[in-house]
Amino acid sequence: MSTLELPVLNTPDAPPAPSNGLKVYVETYGCQMNVNDTEIVQGVMHQHGYAVADTADEADVVLLNTCAIRDNAERKIHERLNHLKYNKRSNKDLVIGVLGCMAERLRAQLLDKQMVDVVIGPDEYRRVPELVEQARGGERGIAVKLSRVETYDDIVPLRTEGISAWISIMRGCDKFCTFCVVPFTRGRERSRPLSSVVDEAKHLWDSGFKEITLLGQNVNSYRDEERGFDFADLLAHTARAVPQMRIRYTTSHPQDMSDKLIDTMAGHDNICKYIHLPVQSGSNRILELMNRTYTVEHYLGRIRRIKQAMPDCAMSTDIIAGFCTETEEDHQRTMDVMREVRYEGAYMFAYSPRENTKAWKMGDDVPDEVKNRRLNEIIELQNGISREINALEIGRTHGILVEGPSKRNAAQWKGRTDTNKTVIFPHEDVRGYVIGDIVSVHIESSSSATLVGKLV
Ligand code: 5AD
Ligand code: SF4
Repeated sequence: MSTLELPVLNTPDAPPAPSNGLKVYVETYGCQMNVNDTEIVQGVMHQHGYAVADTADEADVVLLNTCAIRDNAERKIHERLNHLKYNKRSNKDLVIGVLGCMAERLRAQLLDKQMVDVVIGPDEYRRVPELVEQARGGERGIAVKLSRVETYDDIVPLRTEGISAWISIMRGCDKFCTFCVVPFTRGRERSRPLSSVVDEAKHLWDSGFKEITLLGQNVNSYRDEERGFDFADLLAHTARAVPQMRIRYTTSHPQDMSDKLIDTMAGHDNICKYIHLPVQSGSNRILELMNRTYTVEHYLGRIRRIKQAMPDCAMSTDIIAGFCTETEEDHQRTMDVMREVRYEGAYMFAYSPRENTKAWKMGDDVPDEVKNRRLNEIIELQNGISREINALEIGRTHGILVEGPSKRNAAQWKGRTDTNKTVIFPHEDVRGYVIGDIVSVHIESSSSATLVGKLV
């Protein structure tokens, strides 16, 4: 593979239908599950003769794969739809669709918007071509049934970039955290058979991919019902099947972070030493109101167990500031946990009440300015910790998976460490490495977000 040639993108078992001359553009919002869902929708459309367009402007069908997790995620989509109205004015045949969690949550309400032709929820992506076809004939449509079995196991995602691939291993969530819409928008938990995940991993390796991330809202609930395998078994089987592949996974729930899973990670060099373990709050009272089903003590116990087995394992988390009834004291507890764990990184949010969740009925009594002030304190604390942790990397040498030119400066290339830190280094053509290689980089400087180094 030469430097800029990327792997084969899609090798469907069944040949696609002949081209129908139409192009589809799918725009992705939200989490990594959505990134993979977009690839699944592209796979389905490709099978039906559609080509994938590079921009919305050149597409006959524009689909927004949406997120409903917080109000501002939805607001962004409304703005985008308003903008797409102009595309429709210049191309009357353009079909515009809303897919994903917002489609599931708002359903027919979205059809009140003049520019929306189809509304399709996360478990109905097989029907995208049919609904788009009807819309082209002038009939707008909606498909939002949730399924107990749909895993799109047989659909080959049409991946369009890079050497890293997402593999969804399960869908849905049964945890019902009181603040979260996901159990309503993505339905009940269901898993793919272990063999199909392992086969996909092997296929990806053979196609040139070097890193996979096993995805689920809550991967620790993974279960191969027929053969009784759990997530640790799946990780171990995958690690053995593709021993050179870097393997990551996300997201874990602290309640189900088992010793077996931790030991499985420790036992395989190709399972990356990085765990995203959302804590949400450092106050037991708030955790209880959130229905997180663990205490701070349990959570910290899991972190200790992880660090015992893998002292260099990097940790990241999700934190919500200003959940209903959160006091200054609760907020301080959250910051105490951050100081104790010293996360490499965190995704930090102001609480956003979502209709129909349990927390919606609890009210939203923390004023916005208090929420935002607490959020800013949390962000500032995390930035300081990330900066300090990254400074400790100076002088160390890491194996970096080369991803290609950095966006800001093509003379600099970037890659990631096993622990998921981004590393920038000057590109040296003469060294003969290519995208997808693992190279040794000596770290010379750092910031809160990146490490900078030189090839050894
Ligand atoms: N408000 C703010 N943050 C939320 N999250 C989920 N629901 C909400 C909400 N209503 C955050 C949680 C979760 C992450 C994916 O998004 O931290 O872990
Ligand atoms: Fe939402 Fe909780 Fe499920 Fe995560 S575990 S998707 S926060 S309900």
